[in-house]
Amino acid sequence: MAIETEPPRQINHVAIIMDGNGRWATRRGLPRLVGHRKGAERVREIVDLCPDIGVRYLTLYAFSTENWKRAQAEVAGLMSLFRRYILKEADKLNENGVRVRFIGDRGRLDAKLIDLMARLEEKTAANDHLNLTIALNYGGRDEVTRAVRTLAVDVAEGRVAPDDLSEDAIGYYLDTRYLPDPDLIIRTSGEKRVSNFLLWQAAYAEFEFVETLWPDFSGAELTRIVEGCTGRDRRFGAIAG
Ligand code: FPP
Repeated sequence: MAIETEPPRQINHVAIIMDGNGRWATRRGLPRLVGHRKGAERVREIVDLCPDIGVRYLTLYAFSTENWKRAQAEVAGLMSLFRRYILKEADKLNENGVRVRFIGDRGRLDAKLIDLMARLEEKTAANDHLNLTIALNYGGRDEVTRAVRTLAVDVAEGRVAPDDLSEDAIGYYLDTRYLPDPDLIIRTSGEKRVSNFLLWQAAYAEFEFVETLWPDFSGAELTRIVEGCTGRDRRFGAIAG
């Protein structure tokens, strides 16, 4: 009798909670911002690698709505790191065919950063080799709250009928309306929490929690994880036949 094998599953969209920059630095007696800088170097490596391993969508959790509670100097340092990353990487990302978009509430970010984000989105809009989404001042509950607010106005003003609301329609109001759901969510540094990341979108995602601190997370480790998940049976709630 022939053995039926599952066709390999494609991991198309990987989302990463990049955790452990602070610990990486503290363990070396260095300021936390050095860890974030090292983390930004990892972002470069992982972005370069993704298309080679079949990942067409990469979403990175760079700054959460809760991260404002950190020391003011660390927040300012992170904002400056985001500005520098965009200024430094824009041309290379564009040449490599990376389309960059941002999710999250831009309202609380500074004007210079908002402008750099918008210009990078515009510059890379025609690319599709890799879709890189950076979550900046992002929180899943905040995203849903903003979506519901807009939706409520559309209902009140008669553009949407409550009976027409479907899961797809709700997805349209989220920041991620242009993204497929993540196939795989990775969190580094040993913490096993979702921390308000892609709450709606994670419904059927695989989760991988790895001990590695983000500044040590290598392309080889990502490749191993993606290969390990490819072929894992994801049935989306259906009973296996
Ligand atoms: C969590 O580590 C990390 C962050 C809050 C910042 C993530 C930012 C980067 C990786 C830098 C660059 C990103 C881009 C997109 C250019 P943590 O500080 O919470 O670490 P800890 O838990 O060890 O303190």
